[in-house]
Amino acid sequence: MTDAEYLELIGKIRQLTDVDLNKYKTNQTRRRLEHFLLNLGCQDVASFCTTLEQDPIMVEKLKDFLTINVSEFFRDPKYFSLLLTDILPEMLKNRTRLNIWSAGCSNGAEAYSVAMILDHLSPLSYHRILATDIDRKCLEKARNGGPYDTKEVRNVPREFLEKYFVATDDGYRVVDKMRYNVVFKQHDLLKDFVGSGFDLIICRNVLIYLTEEAKNELLRRFHRALKENGILFLGATEIILDPASFGFTLYNICFYRKATTKKGLLGTSKMPALASARGSKT
Ligand SMILES: C[S@@+](CC[C@H](N)C(=O)[O-])C[C@H]1O[C@@H](n2cnc3c(N)ncnc32)[C@H](O)[C@@H]1O
Repeated sequence: MTDAEYLELIGKIRQLTDVDLNKYKTNQTRRRLEHFLLNLGCQDVASFCTTLEQDPIMVEKLKDFLTINVSEFFRDPKYFSLLLTDILPEMLKNRTRLNIWSAGCSNGAEAYSVAMILDHLSPLSYHRILATDIDRKCLEKARNGGPYDTKEVRNVPREFLEKYFVATDDGYRVVDKMRYNVVFKQHDLLKDFVGSGFDLIICRNVLIYLTEEAKNELLRRFHRALKENGILFLGATEIILDPASFGFTLYNICFYRKATTKKGLLGTSKMPALASARGSKT
């Protein structure tokens, strides 16, 4: 695919779907588009653009193909373990009702993991957990509470698996109590405003697909959407090299705290806690 063809195709996709692929890493996006065309046996980008204009089902297929929505419960268990042992208990000392956003939530496994931890820590409190994604299909599975396969639940602590899931013929389903704890919403992170005043924003394994510019803009948005001292939880490979330039301090690996200007409230680093974090397989 030539540069001109690539630009023509992502322009058409933007026109038809409102998804702006300019904000995603070019090499990766281009490879995926080439792969999609190859599978169709199509070599002519211009005629493929015409097909897209006439065939909404093809547009949906392409959108599905472009979104990478692999997810699982308690993904990277040692970091979810930190939520359980350190971060959420500390937040709950100051307030009984937390406001949480799982951004780019995919099939809901991430948001439900947090809902389970909160129910475990404060069973009588009602927290607001918002979970958003651009992909309608995976939101449908999220809202239905599954079904999830054994790979998706492999890191769920046994106690949680027994308490918060039911095993069915088609896999594991999240119990209704958990489903009612999470609100799922379709939302484009790069475009739409979702609200502010969050204690915790979880955005994991999404930034890796974005250009440096789009990633930086998103980090600034997250900063604005967090409360003072709120925490941003990123994926294991999504390191912010200069957190201070975005108004964050490093709280622990993967966790960034919104710095506050008030004296004495700056987040203290909790780096040593990682060594003592419990594994989540109990
Ligand atoms: C690899 S998954 C990560 C899921 C989950 N956060 C995790 O770490 O397991 C990336 C998710 O980001 C979503 N996504 C990509 N671009 C997005 C955008 N502009 N707005 C909202 N969600 C987006 C995809 O649809 C996909 O579900």
